[in-house]
Amino acid sequence: MLRKFFSSTAEVPETSAIPRHIAIIMDGNGRWAKKRMLPRVAGHQQGVERVRDVIRTCMEQGVQYLTLFAFSSENWRRPKEEVSKLMELFVMALEREVDKLHSNDIRLKVVGDLSQFSDQLQQLIREGEEKTADNEKLVLTIAANYGGRWDILNAMNHWLADHPGAKEIDEAALTPYLSMAYAPEPDLFIRTGGEQRISNYLIWQLAYTELYFTDILWPDFGAKPLEQAIAWYQKRERRFGRTSEQLLQH
Ligand code: IPE
Ligand code: IPE
Ligand code: MG
Repeated sequence: MLRKFFSSTAEVPETSAIPRHIAIIMDGNGRWAKKRMLPRVAGHQQGVERVRDVIRTCMEQGVQYLTLFAFSSENWRRPKEEVSKLMELFVMALEREVDKLHSNDIRLKVVGDLSQFSDQLQQLIREGEEKTADNEKLVLTIAANYGGRWDILNAMNHWLADHPGAKEIDEAALTPYLSMAYAPEPDLFIRTGGEQRISNYLIWQLAYTELYFTDILWPDFGAKPLEQAIAWYQKRERRFGRTSEQLLQH
């Protein structure tokens, strides 16, 4: 199904009370574990549990797209053991969860430079995406080895390859080449763990997103905090460059 999505800096998108697309940076796993004198990986394990809660709440609330940052292009800088534990967890989660996602009518997508992952992981990702490709209730995107700058450059390079000799590109031409071209831009961004930064997440797509930061560590984030974030979102006035008075006329 081909949908036309608006670019928030080119046209005024429609808004609705429930964010259509929520993008989350799941941060604070390490600190959660440290507070309990546990190894960092225990925090990541607990974090996977919260992903389940958040998916469930999104389905209940009618959110159509949920995008989770699982591993950034900069996370390779972590200690080798932590990186390989994270990869193991990713493999395990795919092995265990894809069937459940499928039976819940959830479509799985993974965005990022997947070429750096093991063959096994790449295959599991492909299989999971293929199996769930026709599902429609929720599109769950995992950003893995993802970086916003990589995304933009990757899109540019593919566009250039398709348009040899071209001298100029505009928004409308570029956006179909971005890795999340199948989704509208996020309405609500959430970062847990207290940091107030984007960390090279969806830097293009977040241009007009409402940004919500909470000190709650990701392994403590569940249905209630997500509902609070959505309630906060519902109080925002999304003007997209216009004035409040103009909004009242609509
Ligand atoms: C986020 O939690 C998970 C990943 C980056 C994979 P962190 O591991 O960054 O947790 P903190 O920030 O050290 O607490
Ligand atoms: C961002 O978290 C990436 C993920 C949650 C996967 P980090 O904890 O790695 O971010 P920085 O580097 O501290 O900003
Ligand atoms: Mg962190």
